[in-house]
Amino acid sequence: MFDRPATVLLAGASGGLAQAIGGELVRRYPQVSLLTLSRGEAGSFEGHRGEQHHLSVELGDASSIDAVREFLSESAALPDWVINCCGLLHDDTHGPEKSLQQCDDDWLLQSMRVNLLTHLHLAQALGRLLQRRQPLLWASLSAKVGSIGDNHLGGWYSYRISKAALNMLIRNLSIEWGRRLESCCVVAIHPGTTDTALSKPFQENIAEDKLFRPELSAERIVGVLRGLRPEDSGQLLFWDGTPLPW
Ligand SMILES: NC(=O)c1ccc[n+]([C@@H]2O[C@H](COP(=O)([O-])OP(=O)(O)OC[C@H]3O[C@@H](n4cnc5c(N)ncnc54)[C@H](OP(=O)(O)O)[C@@H]3O)[C@@H](O)[C@H]2O)c1
Repeated sequence: MFDRPATVLLAGASGGLAQAIGGELVRRYPQVSLLTLSRGEAGSFEGHRGEQHHLSVELGDASSIDAVREFLSESAALPDWVINCCGLLHDDTHGPEKSLQQCDDDWLLQSMRVNLLTHLHLAQALGRLLQRRQPLLWASLSAKVGSIGDNHLGGWYSYRISKAALNMLIRNLSIEWGRRLESCCVVAIHPGTTDTALSKPFQENIAEDKLFRPELSAERIVGVLRGLRPEDSGQLLFWDGTPLPW
């Protein structure tokens, strides 16, 4: 049902995983139309023979809802796949907290802005345009550490809290859009620990075979997405497609 995307919207398009996912999409579907969203400028994907339209936008701001809606309204077609890769684990001065006392309001709120609001605003922009008959596959890159049921280690407060909030958004969205649309699948997916800027400072203690190349993670993610059906909607998926507890 979702195995031949015609138009894919890729959000957070400059990131390590997003770049690899764009590359994998173009490898599998050279003619696919790409709609890319990023705070920065458009990058291109080698071998791409379809159209690409780009919007520079800060999805963490509520003003992006109207900007993205306008961008989508002017596009030749609405996306049949949406992959939102926005996420934040650290910046120059903040990293994952080891204990409660390290929690800081501003950092938690910034984590919510990037890990949750960038996905909420994109959904709000697209939501107003959705047509009942048009198939839609939505995937938000989330993280296993955002699973409440799977949390046996603690720590990483801001990242865990904001990814858990994203997971709830995805579950809600799957219910609302599941009622509105004839064929839709909304999932969150854990890419696996992947060698990107996001994981760089934390790679020291990761076994070599547990740290994946972005190209491998992208191949797996696209492989999982193309096999999804509406019955799979509303799940948090591991990178191999198996469901994780919320
Ligand atoms: N790498 C891993 O090991 C790993 C593991 C589990 C989950 N994930 C998840 O996978 C997704 C992609 O991560 P990645 O590894 O590709 O990381 P990355 O290279 O750091 O990319 C992060 C992405 O988030 C966006 N972003 C960063 N800061 C932002 C901000 N302040 N406001 C708005 N957007 C911002 C960027 O989009 P722009 O194009 O707008 O800059 C970029 O696409 C994230 O959601 C991450 O949580 C990654």
